[in-house]
Amino acid sequence: MSPFFIKVFGDNGIVFSNGHTWKQQRRFSLMTLRNLGLGKRSLEMRILEEAQHLVKCFAVQEGKPTDPYMSVVNSVSNVICAVVFGHRFSMDDKLFLRLINVMSMMINFRGTAWGRIYDVFSPLMPLLPGPHKKVFGCWEEVHSFVREEIKVHRERRVAGDPPEDLIDYYQDEIAKTKDDATSVFNENNLRTVVLEFFLASIETTSTSLLWGLLYMVEYPDVQEKVQKELDAVLEPSEIICYEDRKRLPYTNAVIHEVQRYASIVPGGVGRQSLKDTSFQGFFIPKGAIIFGNLTSALYDPEHWETPRQFNPSHFLDEEGKFVNKEAFMPFSAGHRVCLGEQLARTELFIFFTSLLRAFTFHLPRNEEKKISSDYVLGTTVHPLPYQICAVPRWTSEHHGKGC
Ligand code: HEM
Repeated sequence: MSPFFIKVFGDNGIVFSNGHTWKQQRRFSLMTLRNLGLGKRSLEMRILEEAQHLVKCFAVQEGKPTDPYMSVVNSVSNVICAVVFGHRFSMDDKLFLRLINVMSMMINFRGTAWGRIYDVFSPLMPLLPGPHKKVFGCWEEVHSFVREEIKVHRERRVAGDPPEDLIDYYQDEIAKTKDDATSVFNENNLRTVVLEFFLASIETTSTSLLWGLLYMVEYPDVQEKVQKELDAVLEPSEIICYEDRKRLPYTNAVIHEVQRYASIVPGGVGRQSLKDTSFQGFFIPKGAIIFGNLTSALYDPEHWETPRQFNPSHFLDEEGKFVNKEAFMPFSAGHRVCLGEQLARTELFIFFTSLLRAFTFHLPRNEEKKISSDYVLGTTVHPLPYQICAVPRWTSEHHGKGC
């Protein structure tokens, strides 16, 4: 496990905790996500609202080249803000932009040379100057932001009011378990869970979408087929919902192929064995760090016809029906499988379809070269910054509410 993340999270929250703390925080968070509308129409409507904001961000560019990074990150961040804080932020709210910048800095720091140096020489690092000091300073700033949100929630809440977001639910749980000496529900864990939701969701979901847009410009025939299917199945003014993926097998296959081909978390999250273990004839000593090689499954030639090609047919049968594959595991597998899988899948589907219903994407004229193979390895594998043109497909009268 990364000493950098140990320093940041300690044994709190979900991602890096174990045993009783992990079990309780994970169970509670999953239940809360469901209570907040995961798998139901209510949360989908929040995602749709953000997708519509994103469409507007692209629309104002009127087809001119733009770097989609900030707009995509802002929209994805606002979905998690709705879940955690119960409200969204305006795209030019300075505090919100600062929060996002610090989150990106945290995520990207680990992929930098200093991030790696930190992980190797962690006991010495507090004594040395360097960018890690700035990163930890910023982390403290984010904690203060969350502390303030928790305080505002506490003051605003009228006794007996139903909980509206993760912070409300969590504070109720703290109150319910206050006399239980074994309870792991406290403000420290609440802050960590909130920040983990941000860190685990923003970078992963936005990176997947950014790869998706890039593949669409690189494979315009795929983009056209998706748009044809969307136009044939949905009325122009029809509001899309996650359930519609069943009527859109090609589009669904493309989104799965984006996740397979991009393999954005190639090694999963590093885990540590708690005791000496034998696994398939291998001895794993206590304390060994283990990375699940997710790319080996996502690119396994025994499971994929053309593993090194972007090929949506990997998820289609001869009749063009969608088929799931057991080797498709971008969210990992087992007890530690991504807690936000269902939320992420819903977001990817609604954002991706909303964008492709509204625009045709292409590269700026002078940049029509193969660029999708260039990437940056941070905590996730993300594309190099790029410019894209979003050309509106419909006039405003034609353009439906579902974007
Ligand atoms: C496309 C988007 C996403 C991808 C590809 C992704 C991928 C992953 C992967 C590979 C893991 C590591 C699992 C392991 O250790 O074996 C993970 C863990 C986790 N993810 Fe995601 N994730 C995504 C979105 C989200 C979202 C939206 C959330 C928001 C709640 C989230 C929350 C978490 C949490 C809390 C864990 C830790 C689970 C645990 O340790 O029990 N993720 N994710």
